[in-house]
Amino acid sequence: MRSYEIRRRFLDFFRRREHLEVPSSSLVPDDPTLLLTTAGMVQFKPYFLGTAQPPRPRLVSLQKCVRTVDIESIGVTDRHSTCFEMLGNFSFGDYDKTEAVPWAFAFLTDELGLDPDRLWVTVYRDDDETAALWRDVGIPADRVQRLGVADNFWDTGGPGPCGPCSEIFYDRGAAHGPPGGPAVDTDRYLELWNLVFMKHLRGDGAPGDDELPIVGDLPRACLESGLGVERVAVVLQGVVNVHEVDHVAPVLRRLRELVPGEAAGRVRSERIVVDHVRAATFLLADGVLAGNDGRGHVVRRLIRRACHHVALLRGRSTGQVLAELGSTVVDTLGDVWPELVERRGLVEQALAHEEEAFGRTLAHGSRLLQGAIRRTKAQAGSALDGQTAFTLHDRHGFPVELTMEIAREAGLDVDVRTFAALMEEQRQQARHARGQRRDQSGAATPFSQVLARAIRQRFVGYDQLSVETEIVGLLRDGTDAAVASEGHRVQVVLVETPFYAESGGQVGDTGLITTNAGARLRVRDTRLVAGLHVLEADVVCGEVRAKEVVDAAVDAERRAATARSHSATHVLHAVLRELLGDHARQHGSLVAPGRLRFDVTHFCALEPDQLEEIEATVNRRLLADPAVRIWETTPSEAKRAGALAFFGETYGEVVRVVDIGDFSRELCGGTHVGHGSQVGAVRLLGETAVASGVRRIEALTGFDALRHTDHERRLLEEVARLLAVTRPEDIPERLRVRLRALAEAERRLRELRESELSRLADTLAERRRLVDGRWVVCERLSERVIESREDARRLVAAIMQRCPQDQPGGVVLGWTRRGKAQLTLWINEPLGQTGVAARELLHPAGRAVGGGAGGSGPVAHAGGRYVERLDDALALAAHTVLSA
Ligand code: SER
Repeated sequence: MRSYEIRRRFLDFFRRREHLEVPSSSLVPDDPTLLLTTAGMVQFKPYFLGTAQPPRPRLVSLQKCVRTVDIESIGVTDRHSTCFEMLGNFSFGDYDKTEAVPWAFAFLTDELGLDPDRLWVTVYRDDDETAALWRDVGIPADRVQRLGVADNFWDTGGPGPCGPCSEIFYDRGAAHGPPGGPAVDTDRYLELWNLVFMKHLRGDGAPGDDELPIVGDLPRACLESGLGVERVAVVLQGVVNVHEVDHVAPVLRRLRELVPGEAAGRVRSERIVVDHVRAATFLLADGVLAGNDGRGHVVRRLIRRACHHVALLRGRSTGQVLAELGSTVVDTLGDVWPELVERRGLVEQALAHEEEAFGRTLAHGSRLLQGAIRRTKAQAGSALDGQTAFTLHDRHGFPVELTMEIAREAGLDVDVRTFAALMEEQRQQARHARGQRRDQSGAATPFSQVLARAIRQRFVGYDQLSVETEIVGLLRDGTDAAVASEGHRVQVVLVETPFYAESGGQVGDTGLITTNAGARLRVRDTRLVAGLHVLEADVVCGEVRAKEVVDAAVDAERRAATARSHSATHVLHAVLRELLGDHARQHGSLVAPGRLRFDVTHFCALEPDQLEEIEATVNRRLLADPAVRIWETTPSEAKRAGALAFFGETYGEVVRVVDIGDFSRELCGGTHVGHGSQVGAVRLLGETAVASGVRRIEALTGFDALRHTDHERRLLEEVARLLAVTRPEDIPERLRVRLRALAEAERRLRELRESELSRLADTLAERRRLVDGRWVVCERLSERVIESREDARRLVAAIMQRCPQDQPGGVVLGWTRRGKAQLTLWINEPLGQTGVAARELLHPAGRAVGGGAGGSGPVAHAGGRYVERLDDALALAAHTVLSA
C-alpha cells in the first residue's frame, strides 16, 4: 500500500467517526517554549490547556514534524528519522480510550490489513484499564507489556499537557532482532502508533529519574495520538527501513545516481543525507533559513551533516548535490505538501548556498586542522587535543567526525573525552540561556490577565478613522485604574477602535482621544495584547475615567503615509519575485509612515543596477495606477487563488486578501491605499545583508521619498557652490579636474618629501659612530620630520643603504608623537647573524621610556610616556647595539 493511501484511509476513517480534519501547522510552532513542531499535538496545546476552544471536540490531522533528539540514531536503526509525517486523532473532553483503543485496532487490522497476531502493545505501569481494553479487542495478555515514564508517559519536553500513553508495535519477525516484545527490542518490534491520555499539566522543572514535574491537571481529560506514516509504510510495503518507503526512496535513488560508489559505511551515510535533506527541505519551505542559533542552527546543522556525509560517500571529490536532492524531495512529496512546490526555488537556492559555504568552511577547517596535527606530531603527541576539536566544531562548523577521520589518517587519536566535556558545558549554557528566554517570553503579563475579561472589541479602522465609543479598559502600570489625570501614562482599551495595532510589520496607529468633559489623551502607539487593541496613551489634560464615552481619532496623515508604505511593500515584493525569481520571499518587514524595510530571501548582494531596475519597475507599476482590491475568504480558497502568505503565520477561518492590479495578491491584515498612484514615489535607499540568505532593502515612500530627493538636490547645490560651478550638472567635470590637480599636488609633495628624507639620510649616515668594527646611527628627530611609522621605515631603509653592508650595525631613531616617546631600531644582516634580535636590543630603552619593545627579526619598535627620558633611552639603545 502506497503512503498516499495510508494517509487517505486514516483521515477518512476518523472523518467517518465525526472528526474534523485540521491542516498541518507550520514546523515553526506558535509557542515560545518549543523550537520546532515535533508532533501532531503541538498546534493543539491551547485546546488541551483550555485556553482556546477547538472548532470541534474531535479532530484529525496529518502533521509534518521535525525532531532532532534522536539525530545520532539516524541511519543506525531502521526506524529513526528527523523528518516524518504523523497522523493523529484527537479528543478534547469528548471520547476516551474506550473508543480510541478499539478504533486503533480496527484501523490497523481491518483498514490496513495488518496481522493482529503480530501486534504488541505497551501500557503505563499500573494502567490496568488500558491493558484490559487491549485484551478485549483480542491482544492476549502476554503481548501487553508495562513500562515506566521513559516509555509510556508523554510530554513535549517542556511545560504543557502530558499524560500516560499506550504504544502499538508490529513484530517484523526474527530476522530483525531477538524475541521478547518491545520491552526487549524496538527495531524488531516497530512502534507504529502512540495513544496518549492527556490529563496532567507539566511544569517547567527538570524531570527526575522516573517522574515528571507534574504541577496539576488539565481542565478536562483529552486524548491524542500519533501514527508514523513512514513506519506504517515500512510494514505495508515490506521494506526494511524508513528510508526505503515509496515517498522517501526516490531521494535515496537520486543520491546513488549522483554519488555512486562502494565506500565502507556507505549505508549509514546515505540514510543520513536523505533524512537530513528531507528535514532541511521542509524547514526551508517553512521559512527557517540556516543560521547560527535557534531554528536556523538546526537547519544549518542538518545541512552540514548532510554535506559531510556526502563528502564521506565520495572521498574528497567536489561538486554540489544537495539542491538536486532537495528538488527530488519536492518532486516526491509536492502533491501532499504543496508549500514545497511553491518554495522550490528558495529550497534549492538555500541548499546550494549552504553547501557551497560549507565547502569553504571545510577548506578553512582542514587548514587549521592540518596545522594542529603538525603541532601535535612535533610535540610527539598521540592524540589531537579536545579543545582544538571543539573549537573547530563550535567556531568553524567543522564536524567532529571529520576531525576524527582526518586525524586518524594522520595516525592520531582525538581526545574525545575533553571534546565531549566541552560540548556538555556548552549544552548546559544553552539550556540555561533557553530557560532565561522562556522566562521572558512565556510569562503572561498581569495586563493580559486583567484584559482576559470577555471583552468583545471591534476594530473599525479599515473604514473609519474616528469614532465615538466607550473606554472598557483603563490601566496604569498594568493594573486596572478607575481614573487617570494629566501627566499619567495609561493603557486604554476601547469598545470600538479605529487604531490599527502593530502587526504584520505595520506600525501601530497614533492619534487623539477626547472625552466629553474635555480631557485629552495623546495615543503614542497601539499594540495587540491578548488579542486586544491596546492604546499606549498620555493624559495631556483633564481627567479620564473607565466607562467614559470618548471621541477617538487616528492621526490620519500618519496613517495615510503608513498605508502608502504598505502598498509599496506589496508591490516591491511582487517585483522582487518577478526580477529575482520565486525564491525571493518576504522574510520580515517594517511598514512605517513614509518608509519601509523589507527582508527578502536571496542569496547574494543586489548590485546597484539591479536595485535601479527594481526601483524603476516598482514606480512604473504604481504609476500605472492599479486598483487595490481587498476581499475576504477562507485560507484554503486564498491559497488556491495564489495568495502569498507569510511564513509560519497561523491564520483564522477567514483571511483578508489584498490584490494590487493583477500582479500582487497577498494575505494581509494591514491598511492600504485605494489606488497605486496614491503611493507617490518610491526611492530605494540601498540593501544590506541581515543573515545568511536574507537581504534587507530600505526605501522611502510618498512625501518622504520626495523630501529625500529635495534633500539630495540641496546637497548638490551646496557642493556646486563649494566647487564654484553654477549648475549641478557641471559638478562631475569640475570635480574630476579638481581631483586630478589634487593627485598631482600630492605626487609632487611626495617627491619633495622623498628628496628631503634622502638628504636627511645622507646627513644621518655621515654621522654614524663606529666602535670596534661595529656602527650605529642614533638620532632624535623632530615630530615634523617623522609623521608616521611609514616615514620612519623609509628613512631607516635609506640610512641603512648608505652605511656599510658588510659590517654589523644598526639604526635607532627616536621622536615624540602625541605626547609619547617613540623608538625604532633596525639592525642589518651581519648584526642579526650574531644571534641577537632587534627586540631584545631595544628592550632596555623601551623600559626606560616606560614601555616594552615589540617587533620581530631585524625590526623593533618601542614607546612610552616618559618623553623626557627619550635622549637617555636613545643613548642606551645605541650603546646596546655597539656592545651586543
Ligand atoms: N504525542 C505523541 C507522540 O509524538 C503522540 O502523538 O508520540
